[in-house]
Amino acid sequence: MKLKNKFVGIILVLGTIIFVGGGNPLIGLSNHKDSYIKNQNLENTTANSSYLMLVNKENPLSLDYKPSNLIKPNIKFLSSTSDESKYMEEKAAKALEELFQGAKKENIILIGSSAYRSYRSQVRVLKDEINSKGVDYANKYVAKPGKSEHQSGLAIDVTNEARCFDKTSPEAQWLANNAYKFGFILRYPEGKEDITGYNYEPWHIRYVGKDAAKEIYDKNITLEEYLADMV
Ligand code: DAL
Ligand code: ZN
Repeated sequence: MKLKNKFVGIILVLGTIIFVGGGNPLIGLSNHKDSYIKNQNLENTTANSSYLMLVNKENPLSLDYKPSNLIKPNIKFLSSTSDESKYMEEKAAKALEELFQGAKKENIILIGSSAYRSYRSQVRVLKDEINSKGVDYANKYVAKPGKSEHQSGLAIDVTNEARCFDKTSPEAQWLANNAYKFGFILRYPEGKEDITGYNYEPWHIRYVGKDAAKEIYDKNITLEEYLADMV
């Protein structure tokens, strides 16, 4: 009995530490360059996230990174989308709803495919891709666990009714030309593979906020280049 009480006590103390220390990882989320500059070269942790957080092959998220304010955007998802992958960081989710509505007004029907993915889910996604397409292909399209923007809750893959989201589709063209108006960028543009580390992905958009998105769109640059210009 005594041992049990001691155990319960330890759990309570640990719980308090995690609660107080963890807090809301997205408190202080901002688009200010100061937060990027201050945080660069650090592993992204719950303490230093921002809407401009850089997640790529050189800048990983910690294994347990998970935004605390994930919500489900009110959009249509594929029936194959897992429940977890229907979530996004709150502000990104609201902006995504506006983007989908804006597209619909122009008769462009977008469908959500995969948004938030935990570290564990990314392990599975990478494994499945390696099994079906091989390691070389997978390395060009799928991030290693901890190195995927999907874990940040700020990114989503979208598709269309035809499930053919290549650059010639009206939906991909609309997205490329309009996503910035809603605060999103095409994160892996064509011709920028050397900078982003991934092949062109017309379906993967990332929330950065309207100001950054417009500048990135106008200058035809990547998030990496945008952040480098700030330093
Ligand atoms: N497809 C992108 C690179 C990811 O897996 O996060
Ligand atoms: Zn993606």
